[in-house]
Amino acid sequence: MTGASQQQTPPFKPADVLNAHIMGDERSMYALFDYLRANDPVALVEHPDYRPFWSLSRYDDIKRIGSENDRFLSAPRTVLIPTAFEEALLERFGTRNGLETLIHMDRPKHLKLRKVTREWFLPRSIESLRAEVEALSKEFVDKMQEMGSECDFVRDIALLFPLRIILSILGLPREAEGTMLKLTQEMFGSQDPALQRADSETAGLEVLNDFGAYFSEVIEDRKKNPKDDLATVLANAEVDGEPMNVLDQASYFIITASAGHDTTSAAIGGGMKALLEHPDQLALWRGRPDLDVGAAKEVIRWVSPVRHMVRTATESLELHGKQIQAGDNIALWYPAANRDPQAFDHPNRLDLLRDPKQQLAFGYGSHMCLGQHLAAMEVGCFFRELLPRLKDMQFNGDPEWIKAIFVGGLKSMPVRYTLT
Ligand code: HEM
Repeated sequence: MTGASQQQTPPFKPADVLNAHIMGDERSMYALFDYLRANDPVALVEHPDYRPFWSLSRYDDIKRIGSENDRFLSAPRTVLIPTAFEEALLERFGTRNGLETLIHMDRPKHLKLRKVTREWFLPRSIESLRAEVEALSKEFVDKMQEMGSECDFVRDIALLFPLRIILSILGLPREAEGTMLKLTQEMFGSQDPALQRADSETAGLEVLNDFGAYFSEVIEDRKKNPKDDLATVLANAEVDGEPMNVLDQASYFIITASAGHDTTSAAIGGGMKALLEHPDQLALWRGRPDLDVGAAKEVIRWVSPVRHMVRTATESLELHGKQIQAGDNIALWYPAANRDPQAFDHPNRLDLLRDPKQQLAFGYGSHMCLGQHLAAMEVGCFFRELLPRLKDMQFNGDPEWIKAIFVGGLKSMPVRYTLT
């Protein structure tokens, strides 16, 4: 065979989206998505440890399928979970998702449950938290200053700041920080040997049980002693005139507590890294505090902490020449959408002046992130406090990524800096 006619081995295969090592490193993850977007935008993924599914990597397709919520359902398969763990969840909870949070359900139940907390997360409610978020931003930047000239930006700052805020909104004490951080990392980091409780289905179930046990005590307390916090709203919520059932209620607490900080931590950690790699943008934001939410959303586009969600087709359709059947599962890869050159000029450039409405990191359609205004305010407030005080910062070791295919981000980033 001559060189010209030799078949080139493709650099990636569709099942690489399930490889936590490829997905747990930004360079290989974006190289994989560039390859799939250009060569196999509707890729069938088959893997011995997972049920098959279609994988979408183009912006327009992801936005469309994500927003047609009656044709492409969030239940019964919402997130990619290894089959063995799905079976364990099925046995324990009666569904392969295990939890029954907002992201796992469809209309009409979804709308009714979303209504329970909608008011709390509207921009005007979130605005009332601004003073507290600004004060906490200052507290954390002061902490960096007290640490001297070196810290692990992710472990010492980015992981803890959003956690403090969501616990305060829920009305949970600071002493709960350690427990919440550990349980969330064990849940989202279940494929990372450094974060997982153990590499087994039983360990995954134990983590959910521990979350449930913690929150059932909180629920009992807030039923007896109502306060002005989100925990009280959840503990006493009624749906169709009936108290919420136990699984719905525990799931609601779990998604609020976990999605409420891990994603935002990833955005702040990854955002700091991106700003160090784009010093012109760092200087721009330092001089233009008015950029605020717009700049925060560009940082969130850049990091896209939620890697995927899954939808199930209710009818068959053809997409880019592939036949998707009713009942098939479709994974929407948000980081792939957010770097699609058909949707963004120079997608691999951090550009804080970009139109913030376009990015898909918060999803699209009726499940669009409930906490998006809170997340953008946290990221904006934190960098507005830090950047004017930051004289310089350099990497002080290699940043390390979480090995994850669902919620991803940095787990460590040593830095050296001078703060005023
Ligand atoms: C940068 C930070 C964040 C990112 C990237 C993010 C991303 C997402 C995405 C992609 C979804 C859509 C799921 C779907 O389409 O099925 C979602 C839903 C959700 N997020 Fe966030 N999120 C962030 C921060 C937060 C915060 C701070 C909270 C606060 C509690 C939160 C709570 C939720 C909830 C409750 C849902 C479910 C909404 C529903 O299904 O109706 N998120 N988020």
